[in-house]
Amino acid sequence: MYEEIILDKSKSKEEIYQTIFPQLKALMKDESDLIANMANMAAVLKMSFDFFWVGFYLVKNEALVLGPFQGPIACTRIPLGKGVCGRSWEQKTTFIVPDVALFQGHIACSSDSKSEIVIPKIKKDNVLFVLDIDSNILNSFDDIDAYYLSKFIALF
Ligand code: SME
Repeated sequence: MYEEIILDKSKSKEEIYQTIFPQLKALMKDESDLIANMANMAAVLKMSFDFFWVGFYLVKNEALVLGPFQGPIACTRIPLGKGVCGRSWEQKTTFIVPDVALFQGHIACSSDSKSEIVIPKIKKDNVLFVLDIDSNILNSFDDIDAYYLSKFIALF
């Protein structure tokens, strides 16, 4: 199988999300394995936006455990309520953090990370995993990212 994501990085982020969404949807259509699909989604988002870090943390018993990701090594376990990811899990809501230095309890896997967005996947009122994206630029994320990334998460 040969797959290639086609995108034009000179477009607006909204247009990039709109371009890659159907391609990712098609890529995931014939694959039921969660980890395989997470791995490709992380790769597509990383290559499309050159984010510093894109990855998933899966709820496993008492912690979020590191799943497929693209970027530098990261912490492997995050307890409920800890860091941006743990708060997103606990509160079952998306967090947009314009400046991670100002977020109390932020877990710094890298000092290069400056802003962050975390989106939880919720099924029957339970969080199954979170998508975490870090940028090395302050204030990288807004409601446009939250809107489109929620659509991406809904593909699972
Ligand atoms: N910053 C996250 C930890 C995960 S890393 O960013 C990859 C947090 O505060 O939950």
